[in-house]
Amino acid sequence: MENASHEVSHQSPLDGRYVQIEKLEWASFPEGLCEGPIKWKLLNVSPETGAWTAIFDCPAGSSFNRHVHIGPGEYFLTKGYMEVRGGDNDGGSTAIAPGYGYEPCNAQHDKTYFKEDSEFYMTFLGPLNFIDEDGNTLALVTWQGAQTAWEMK
Ligand SMILES: [Fe+2]
Repeated sequence: MENASHEVSHQSPLDGRYVQIEKLEWASFPEGLCEGPIKWKLLNVSPETGAWTAIFDCPAGSSFNRHVHIGPGEYFLTKGYMEVRGGDNDGGSTAIAPGYGYEPCNAQHDKTYFKEDSEFYMTFLGPLNFIDEDGNTLALVTWQGAQTAWEMK
């Protein structure tokens, strides 16, 4: 389905950008990167910094597959409940909306799990490296990769 967000003018480092979020259609987050029907909206990419920003809709029981944050990231859980790095009971963080979190460079998230229907906004200051159990790269999601996945939906 065509989406007006596919215009690429926001890839210019000199351009600002504004997105009316509810006017973007949700897209399925790429298979292989998550379990369950997670949806997302890519809000921005920033070629000058390598950053990308998205909002995610994560139904109860869904999760993101194992990944490493090559750069730091900040999130705002606007709805629901998210277990990061195992959650509070396993040395990680349990986010309950409204909640903010910072994940540093090289943070490894073996499973980011949503116990309830949840939604969060996140800016990634660099790629996400999706890995297997041995640390081998399965998919390196750069801002370009995120843009491509968004355009292919
Ligand atoms: Fe993560």
